[in-house]
Amino acid sequence: MIAKAISAYDALQTDTIILCEKDKLPDLLDTNLKATANRLAEKEQEIINLSTAENNHWVVFVKPNMQAEALRKLGNTLLQEIEKVKTTALTIYGATVEKEALLSFTEGFLLGAYQFLKYFKEEEQVKKKIKLEHLEVFAGVPLDEELEAMQATIDAVFWARDLVNEPLSAVNASSFAQQVSAKGAAVGLDVEVLDKKQIESLRMGGLLAVNRGSIDPPTFTIATWKPENAINTKPYVLVGKGVMFDTGGLSLKPTANSMDLMKSDMGGAAAIAATLYGIAKHKLPLYVIGLMPATDNRPSGNAYTPGEIVKMFNGLHVEVLNTDAEGRMILADAISYADKFDPEFVLDMATLTGSAAMALGTQAAVMMGTAETAYFEDLQTAGDQVHERLIRFPFFAEYDEMIKSKIADLKNLGGRDAGAITAGKFLANFTSHPFIHIDIAGPAFLTAAESYRTLGGSGYGVRLLLQYFKNRSKK
Ligand code: BES
Ligand code: ZN
Ligand code: ZN
Repeated sequence: MIAKAISAYDALQTDTIILCEKDKLPDLLDTNLKATANRLAEKEQEIINLSTAENNHWVVFVKPNMQAEALRKLGNTLLQEIEKVKTTALTIYGATVEKEALLSFTEGFLLGAYQFLKYFKEEEQVKKKIKLEHLEVFAGVPLDEELEAMQATIDAVFWARDLVNEPLSAVNASSFAQQVSAKGAAVGLDVEVLDKKQIESLRMGGLLAVNRGSIDPPTFTIATWKPENAINTKPYVLVGKGVMFDTGGLSLKPTANSMDLMKSDMGGAAAIAATLYGIAKHKLPLYVIGLMPATDNRPSGNAYTPGEIVKMFNGLHVEVLNTDAEGRMILADAISYADKFDPEFVLDMATLTGSAAMALGTQAAVMMGTAETAYFEDLQTAGDQVHERLIRFPFFAEYDEMIKSKIADLKNLGGRDAGAITAGKFLANFTSHPFIHIDIAGPAFLTAAESYRTLGGSGYGVRLLLQYFKNRSKK
């Protein structure tokens, strides 16, 4: 479904959602319809169905100063409502409300329309598929640019959701890299994929160790957006955890069902790929690089073992005490690889710890790191704007003790307490640049829809980072 702005709308011909404030019904509605709407409005109804034999109409009351998130959710509610009557073409009429309100409502409406149906048989797909195909939005003022930008963001989010929803059998390290190359090239990103040989000659010991148990080779994807009008000279480097499936390896995931959702362990890499794609689609005047190390994590005769000591890309040695703490092994190599770009900051996004998910559930991601506080504040602001919220955890020096090894520079296991923080602390050892770590283990995957955040891969992080960089490019 694609939303198109229209410049004129004067009679109620098509199926229409009318957004307006109570007591401000537009003259579009005749006296009869107004009377009906007013009568129901008195009964505190927020959504009023005025459908006739010819057309379906809904009046949706918007409160002045309504929060963007409430409007997004309302948009999704209306989408679900409309599907009940199988409308195929619809206009959203928002000429009497604030443009921002109309846009938030439309955003929720569109985000809620994501579906992942390809593994149903065809008749089922037809039955389940949202019937609405043509959506027009009327604001009474120009809206093309805003809608086009919104559509670009939504495309990026949907791609991230798709990548997460596909199982390992459909998206492994190689096919992930191929998809990023193809989708990236289409929007003008420069994408380079390092193969196993190149990863070996770079001595990325962490990525190679995790990959040893796999039957598929690893990949390391580098996506660059460097427009001529970039306002920054040092790039922002984004790193995404691409564990295409996490069995835990030889430290096999122990508890019942703890492995079931682990196709989502590449949610960080999906978010970073989609963010770069969105940045290119928006043509933001910023120099940004995305690094996506990818492999699955499995047990096998050749799998890396607990007790093993791995020499990492930057030369540090890591004592492996649990092969299920694999995310930090592959991220560490990518984070130190970022140093060669002399980045403004290195930011990683990763489904890194159960500990982060236990702390916040699906409602927010955990962030922490060594960068100046202003960076965290700006990220938090962007997160609040798009309702992909962030909570900052402490990064006290005392936590460093918990990942010291007696026989190597570091160990990959911190202990029972503060698991999200010790994982972040581990990563901080691999860069000398300002570092930001975002653990998305909680919000990356939903076992039930939460309004417009549909079931499965949520695409968390894409709208957050795109908003952050949009704000950046205006500074
Ligand atoms: N991929 C998991 C983390 C995870 C857990 C993501 C639940 C999403 C939902 C990660 O690789 C992992 O296994 N972490 C371990 C680390 C531990 C062994 C130090 C964990 O959090 O239990
Ligand atoms: Zn793991
Ligand atoms: Zn993992």
